[in-house]
Amino acid sequence: MESPRSSVFGPRSSVLTLLVLTVLISATLRAQDGKVVYDKWCAGCHGDTGAGDGFGAKTMLPHPRDFTKAVYKIRTTASGEIPTDDDLRHVIEVGMPGTAMPEWKSRLSAGEITGVIQYLKSFSPNSFKGAAAKAIAIGKAPSGAGVDEGKAVFQKLECYKCHGAAGRADGKSAPTLKDDYGNPIRPADLTENWKFRGGSSVSDIYARLRTGLDGTPMPSFQDAVENKLITDEQLWRVAQYVHSLSPEKAPESREVVRAARVQSVPTTPDDAAWRAVERFWVPLVGQIIAKPRWFAPTVDGVWVQALHDGRTIALRLSWDDPSKSPDPIWDEWLGRMSKSLTDVDGPLATQQGPDRLVVQWAQDPNDESQRPYFLGGDTKRPVYVWRWSSEPRVEEGTETGLGKFTALPGAHVTQSTKYADGQWQVLFTRPLASIDTTHIPRFTTGHAIPIAFFAADGSSGEDEIRGAVSTWYAVYLDVPTPTRVFVAPIAMIALSAGLGMLLVTRAQRRERVGDGRRPNDSSHTEER
Ligand code: HEC
Ligand code: HEC
Repeated sequence: MESPRSSVFGPRSSVLTLLVLTVLISATLRAQDGKVVYDKWCAGCHGDTGAGDGFGAKTMLPHPRDFTKAVYKIRTTASGEIPTDDDLRHVIEVGMPGTAMPEWKSRLSAGEITGVIQYLKSFSPNSFKGAAAKAIAIGKAPSGAGVDEGKAVFQKLECYKCHGAAGRADGKSAPTLKDDYGNPIRPADLTENWKFRGGSSVSDIYARLRTGLDGTPMPSFQDAVENKLITDEQLWRVAQYVHSLSPEKAPESREVVRAARVQSVPTTPDDAAWRAVERFWVPLVGQIIAKPRWFAPTVDGVWVQALHDGRTIALRLSWDDPSKSPDPIWDEWLGRMSKSLTDVDGPLATQQGPDRLVVQWAQDPNDESQRPYFLGGDTKRPVYVWRWSSEPRVEEGTETGLGKFTALPGAHVTQSTKYADGQWQVLFTRPLASIDTTHIPRFTTGHAIPIAFFAADGSSGEDEIRGAVSTWYAVYLDVPTPTRVFVAPIAMIALSAGLGMLLVTRAQRRERVGDGRRPNDSSHTEER
């Protein structure tokens, strides 16, 4: 009798064997090609052995993923399961917004991505050795308006406990949250869906609610549907509600903030008049140039609104920050931050400082070569600043580098502050006229005055240097004249002044070349 084993070598099965071998060999080959791609593009963050311990891994939050654990966030498979190859392909192609994980579609071919997927899986052979995981059927969003119902289900499922009542990541549990590796993790800010790890569409959100984000405290709500706590349609309604909390499109940053002229400027940040005033989004990124560098900023942007009435300029800034620092309930969070971020040019503060916001202004609007260094100026070219902190108070003075502050006599700038639902709103006002024209720019109508921002969250170990920065933007003080006159200077500034989002890596490169002197800003980068 032929043993089952020898039958493999029988005439019919030899074809099969050959086929199996070919498949195996080509998979190995792909994994080998994958290794080349991986070593070149991925190992820097994810580590040579896939353990998530590449260069600088401990400066980033979230840390690069440890592939040996085979725990993946963005899946179409049930909670706790491995992802499908298509899931991996998708996340590699588009990247993970709001984290250091870049998109690879523009750099790698489809074949290279296939190879790198096989190689990734080889870091955790046991997890991937069985049958391929099955994607769950996602279906389609129900039609009709359901945002109100979605809001009710959001309450019922207690999403607010982590995400906060208004969705700004300030829920009661937020300060205590950690991922499976003990690192601090923030609930997503549901008002900024362009930063969702797995995409911002209603069906992306629904998929995350069904499958959860494995490795994080964000649960799957599959059980809630299976146990008939809610219907599947209601889960879609929550996804629609969450989607409705963000602007229709991710905000684009524009270089010039327009300060319209009004009869008289509002005196509080929550004055109803602000609702009618155009908002400008200024993105902020981690300050990774001056030491100590900071790769894990809390504040990712500031909404700017400006008005003037011919005598006073009013600047209303609002930004999301889940903690009103200092606040003892965030001590646990700060402790976890300092354990988790260990490669950040020295230890973090053990005590929470205040939240901070610095508005910096440049002297000369027209001469770009004379513009100060965007990180708080330097001794040669100081910046004029309004330095706010969450006591709350504001100081007026000059800086010759981040945190190197000298007060100016007289208190001309006032602040009015409100904190609610994970958001600061601060209104600054100042008379347009000033006697000191050496330190203070001329706030004259018909001119664009260069402006830049620095923000820090005291509960996260941020201070006067560790924080988030913008490059130069400008505030244009409106004149009540024909539009032609008004449009021309704005267009000119936008085209030539080079106030676009300065890519920090570019600045860093320049700085390296220019041995730390202020980078020459004349080559405007459009990389954002
Ligand atoms: C600059 C650093 C960096 C580089 C380079 C990088 N990654 Fe990542 N990657 C990350 C970070 C950080 C995360 C974790 C993000 C999170 O957990 O939200 C991540 C997560 C992932 C994940 C997990 C996705 C999921 O659903 O959980 C995959 C897969 C991945 N990276 C693949 C790659 C591949 C393939 C390459 C190279 C082609 C690469 N990464 C290069 C930083 C990087
Ligand atoms: C126990 C705390 C907790 C609860 C409860 C919770 N979440 Fe989350 N959620 C998180 C955390 C933490 C993250 C961030 C995960 C990350 O950064 O990878 C998150 C992320 C998200 C995201 C972003 C997904 C992405 O692609 O990045 C959405 C949307 C979301 N949650 C919606 C909800 C909704 C809706 C509910 C209630 C039905 C809910 N969450 C309940 C903790 C929670």
